[in-house]
Amino acid sequence: MTPPRVLTTAAQFRTALTETVLALPAREGGRPPVVGLVPTMGALHEGHAALLDAAHATADVVIASLFVNPLQFDDPEDHRLYPRDMDGDLALLAAHGAQLVFAPSTEEMYPGHPDGPLVTVTAGGLGRRYEGAHRPGHFDGVATVVTKLFSIMAPPAPAALEAWFGRKDAEQVAVIARMVEDLSLPVRVRTVPVVRDEHGLAMSSRNRRLSDDDHTSALSLSRTLTELRGRAAAGEPLDVDGLSAALHARDDVDLDYLVVADPRTLRPADLTDEGTLTGPALGLIAARVGGVRLIDNMDLEPLTRNEEHLP
Ligand code: PAJ
Repeated sequence: MTPPRVLTTAAQFRTALTETVLALPAREGGRPPVVGLVPTMGALHEGHAALLDAAHATADVVIASLFVNPLQFDDPEDHRLYPRDMDGDLALLAAHGAQLVFAPSTEEMYPGHPDGPLVTVTAGGLGRRYEGAHRPGHFDGVATVVTKLFSIMAPPAPAALEAWFGRKDAEQVAVIARMVEDLSLPVRVRTVPVVRDEHGLAMSSRNRRLSDDDHTSALSLSRTLTELRGRAAAGEPLDVDGLSAALHARDDVDLDYLVVADPRTLRPADLTDEGTLTGPALGLIAARVGGVRLIDNMDLEPLTRNEEHLP
């Protein structure tokens, strides 16, 4: 378990990555090497580990970033309270085969912050739907930092860059995939499914701030999505309003939204007059539990015609 090399400036990182890529043995058939990038904000857990493992399975070199990006926090208090654990992170990165880690200071990423950056990337309408509506500027901040990371962490040609993201942040995946397409960024975006703890709670760095009671309350998010998925698969009306009302009635969960959306456009999904699903969709939920904001989502599959005739 070799610890990764940690680089704190863009210039140092580029030099280290170039050296690493040039030192790679030639691949069969002269295929160019693949660099797998896992961008993170640290406080790493099994969800991040799944990304590193997936990157490892397809890449010749795995690289990661640790940076708590101030641009994507609309609430400075949330940014201040975001968990930080450099030692734990480096141990997890080593255990999951990351070779190089970019861990810049805020000043390195945004000289003169909070004055600037002046030129930023915006996520447009896609960044103003659910999380974006509740956290103004969040996806613009994500789009800006991810563009910078893609630029700083790009390997020298002909090596290819594959960047890994978790579907836990489904809207983030939609924004980044669209950004890469719209800005013609030379990156292949790849994803892994949501990783959950043994009780079903989606893993999140923020879970460290939940008490045991909060954790129990937080399970109502994944239970609600599981209920939605069951109704979708059975061809039953989804009754999102009823499920939302049940959560609103609880005083330990402060629901922000529960929606059923198209997985690519994130617009509200089409339902039949009876309120059943017409095609694959995404159930998205966000709530505050014990003062901690949590999000989760699940793929919803409608009952297919063929299945309707099964006993
Ligand atoms: P962070 O919250 O640290 O997450 C880093 C990556 O891990 C993201 O792609 C996220 O979707 C994924 N991830 C987190 N929890 C997961 C889980 N339970 N299952 C699967 N994947 C999970 O997302 C960010 O950081 C930032 O917005 C970032 C992209 C780094 C830009 O600052």
